[in-house]
This record gives sequence, C-alpha cells and structure tokens, in this order.
Amino acid sequence: MCGIVGAVAKRNILPILLNGLRKLEYRGYDSAGVAVVNAEDQISRIRSVGKIIELEKALDRAPDIQGTTGIAHTRWATHGPPTESNAHPHMSGSRLALVCNGIVENHESLRLAQKAKGFEFQSDTDTEVIVNEIYQHIAQGADLLNAVKSTIKSLQGAFAIGVISADEPYRLVGARRGSPLVVGVGKDETFLASDMSALLSVTKDFFILDDGDIVDINGTNVTIMDQLGQPQQRQLKTSTLTAESVELGEHRHFMLKEIHEQSTAIANTLEGRITGTGLLEASFGADATQVFDDTRAVQIIACGTSYHAGLVAKYWFEELGVPCQVEIASEFRSRTHAVPDHCLVVTLSQSGETIDTLSALAEAKRIGYGSSLTICNAPESSLVRESDLVLMTHAGPEIGVASTKAFTTQLVALRLLVIALGRRRHLSMEHEAKLIAELRELPAKVDEAIKLEPIIKDIAEQFADKHHTLFLGRGTHYPIALEGALKLKEISYIHAEAYPAGELKHGPLALIDSDMPVISVAPNDRLLDKLKANIEEVRARGGKLIVFADVETEMSEQKNLTVINVASVDSSIAPIIFTIPLQLLSYHVALIKGTDVDKPRNLAKSVTVE
Ligand code: G6P
Repeated sequence: MCGIVGAVAKRNILPILLNGLRKLEYRGYDSAGVAVVNAEDQISRIRSVGKIIELEKALDRAPDIQGTTGIAHTRWATHGPPTESNAHPHMSGSRLALVCNGIVENHESLRLAQKAKGFEFQSDTDTEVIVNEIYQHIAQGADLLNAVKSTIKSLQGAFAIGVISADEPYRLVGARRGSPLVVGVGKDETFLASDMSALLSVTKDFFILDDGDIVDINGTNVTIMDQLGQPQQRQLKTSTLTAESVELGEHRHFMLKEIHEQSTAIANTLEGRITGTGLLEASFGADATQVFDDTRAVQIIACGTSYHAGLVAKYWFEELGVPCQVEIASEFRSRTHAVPDHCLVVTLSQSGETIDTLSALAEAKRIGYGSSLTICNAPESSLVRESDLVLMTHAGPEIGVASTKAFTTQLVALRLLVIALGRRRHLSMEHEAKLIAELRELPAKVDEAIKLEPIIKDIAEQFADKHHTLFLGRGTHYPIALEGALKLKEISYIHAEAYPAGELKHGPLALIDSDMPVISVAPNDRLLDKLKANIEEVRARGGKLIVFADVETEMSEQKNLTVINVASVDSSIAPIIFTIPLQLLSYHVALIKGTDVDKPRNLAKSVTVE
C-alpha cells in the first residue's frame, strides 16, 4: 500500500508530485507529504493528516515551497497511527528525505542499533530506520546512490523507496524489492512512481523496474541497476493508458463510472480471444496448449473480491470435470500442502501486486506445484511477470477501492479458462459453441441489468437506519452473495454476512428479525425451488426480504418480500449478471450513508503489505 512519486526536472515539480499523489490515492489516504530540494539547496517538507486535499491546503498556505527535485507520498498506516509525524517523507537530519511503500520487517533491531548510536526517532514508523541507515553511510563518505545500495542490503521485507539529498540537489535514487516502482521518462525530466497512472499527464514512456532494481536519476541521466548493482538495460515501454482513463469524467464517483463501464470492459476482455464458435487458446500464451494438456487439476489463489471470482469458477470447473480448489492467498502461503500432481496454479488479481497473492505463488512454485497462470488487470505487474501463462482482463484502470469491473471481467476470463480446460474433459464442440454464444451476449445483458438502477436506488432507502444485513445464495450464486456482502460492508460500513441459503437453518435463522434485511439472488436454475423454500423460512420468522430474481422465476411481491426482476439469462453467465444489481445497491446505500464511496475508511486498493 502507500503511493510514492518523485521527479527531477528543470521546472517546479510540485504540481506534478501533487497530481501524481491524487492518482495514487487509491493506494492509501490517511496522510500525505512532500519534500523538495528548494532554490537554496535546502529540503522543504510539508506533511498533513488526511487525504491529498489536506496536503494541497497546507501547500496553499506555503506558496514559497518550490523545487526541481522532490518526492511525495500518500500513506496507508501500518506502523504507527495516521499522524503528521508518522507521515512520509521521513528525514534524517535536515538534508536527507525518503518515502517508502512497504514494510521493513527487521525495523526493531535496526531501531535499537540506531538508538544506541544516538539517533532520536521522530515517528513510530518502520520507515525511519531506512533514512537513518542511509544517513550513516553518507556520513562515512558514500554518495547518495552508494548509501542506498548499502542500506537496502541490511533491510528485510518488501518495499519501494525514493530518496533525495540536499547535498546532491538534482539526484533521486529509487529502489524496489517486492513493491512496484516505475520510472517515467520525459524530455529532460525523469519521474518515479508506484504505477504509471500517476505520471500519465507528464509522460507515456516508462521503464518498469524489475524486482531488486535500483534506479539512479541524476540530472537527465537515468541508470538502472539490478540487485547486484550491475547496470542493466531495461526496455522503454509506451503506455497505452490515456490520462482520461484515470479521470472521473461526468460521473460522481469512480465506483459508479466503473460499474457503468462493465459492458465495454467485458467486450474488451473477450475481444480477440474468441472466434464465432470457439476459444483461441493462444490468448493465454505461446505454451498454453502444452500446459493445458498437462493439467489435471486447478488451484486458484486470490484475495478479497478476486477470491470470490475464484469461488464461482470452482463450480464452473468441476461441472466440466476439472477438479478445482480455491484458497485465500494469505492462508495458502502459510500452511503445509499435500501437493497434487499436474496442478495448474491460477492467481487472480486486479492489481497484480497483492503481496499475499505474490507470496502464495512463490510458495506454490517452491513446493512443487505445476505451471502457473495469472488472470490480471495490470499489464506490467509482478504477478504477470512471475507467471508462465497470462490472460489479461482488459477492464482498464480501476480506481474505486471497491472492485467492480475487475471482478466481472475476471469471471469472463475464468469462463475462457474453464472452456480451455473443459475441452480436455467433458466439453463437446457444440457445448463450447453454445457457451461462447452466451459470452457474446454478456455486454448487452450487463447494460440491461444496469437499467435497474432507479429501482435499486429506491430500495437503498430501506438501509438508511440498518446495522446488519444477510445475503443468501446457492451454488455459483453463493460467492455472488459473498461479493454482495463484501461490497456493502466495504463502502457503507453496514455489517453484512453471506450464507449459502441451505445453511440458514444451522445458525443464521436465529438472527432474523424485521431489523435485518435479507438479500437474495434467485437465478432461474435447478436450485430455485430450494432457494424459494429458504426464502419462506425467512418470511415465516418476520424477516424482510429483497430478492433479485430472474424474470422467469415468476416470483411475486408478497408481505415482507420485495422482488426485483432481472432479465432472464443463461445459467453460465448468470453470476456475472446478478453481480450488477448488488454493486448498484451497495453504491446507493453508501450514498445515503454519506460515506466516501471511492476511498472507504481504513482500506486501500492495492495491498502490498502482508
Ligand atoms: C484489496 C482491495 C479489494 C481487492 C483485494 C485483492 O482488499 O480493496 O478490492 O479485491 O485487495 O486485490 P487484487 O488486486 O489482488 O485483486
């Protein structure tokens, strides 16, 4: 988590740093800060608690702060509460400043050693030890680059840093281990950032640093070194992202914008991957056919919303005879496994930088799982680089912390993988053609589901004074209920739980009363009658139900039962369609609650700490 930006230019870089921070706010937003080398070759630093807007206000009160070299940071607190003294940049003395994204695991021992040498700590963070360590190397005669090189050898953990020194005013040194960092190349100016979106207004040309890389930006010279300090040529890549793609446009929130972008995102994810009747297997990579031929089972690993996409896919894989396990990455990485033979490891991630998912993949490789495949939305991300096969979701940048279009495009990508592996099991050519035809219908069906928004907006009113909600689903729609509950709790702070509807009688029924709305999705599938029975169990106990039902289920309004009809869809794509009204419901409930929809409290979009 946390976002970092840095720049060395021939103009005042403060507006560039601030603009970059605004784009990185999704990575954390509890405090922010900036440090520049000013015209007198001194470091000017301003920090503030809260979102970037607070930092902007603080800078408005200090119009003299300007500089051509600088670093900036938006924080998601790990060590130490969100106070000004814990905000980055951190300094050692008055001439050295550093920003960091990540965690220094051995900070306690370094802190003790530094205290013994007389360092006085200004913050509770794990970061301050890094800048003190660099300070000591400089005091012993090293320049900034060599001081950084020596320092990172003594650090344990995953991090990305940017460092400036008033004694080398046109220099910015960056390094990454575990956490992402890119170098943006402009005309006579160079930038550093956690991701490309932060710099799109100043450049589209980037070096994507490899894990372990160090970058020395010295005036207009850029040198990239690997973890051994050896200079390396990294390929300059041109981003296809536009600055507009990370702007809000006419929408009130990114979440709403992203909900509405889903039909396009899905169409883009399908484009070039399917023909009239079949799947193009090469979409997964040159070795896909060989890897798929060798695959006997699938292990999915993911976190958060991406994990829910994996849970849906388990039903899909096993329906076609492909054994599939799904596990939360933080659990997978830290337990002992009985490793199955010929098992394809599939990671799902919007960002491609979630540290638990990356560590779980590394663990899977270490203990002997087979090939790996990632379904990911960030092209140059660590997961993409670490995986044998890749299927990109072409959702475009997702900024709202609550994931929407990344989830539905992951489900689409998973359908393609299910078809690829299903071909080796129970899937006939005719069946494949039918599934492909259903996928083609998706964008139009998604747009139809979005038209339910006015009805959902009215229903959201019922949640204004509620503190708890229960979501129910069966089969592939149990994970959709989980996702609906996650969305609601993330952005409206209403406690929400999801249960497989058949499990109601084993506990949750005890909670039912008129104060706890129960939300259910009712596709027209073979589980419908059982679901209807569960719905009656709730009504019989005075519970108030809101059911999103396939129009063909012919469910009708009754006392304590609100039915919202969803256009009929085939069961293979129903989980994708039924997700849409649940996203809209959580969005409109959050609006009523007055929360910060795109930046809910305590959360961040890209979780690069364990
Ligand atoms: C965070 C985000 C979620 C996301 C999860 C996994 O918790 O707030 O929206 O689902 O991380 O992220 P990933 O980028 O790996 O999909």
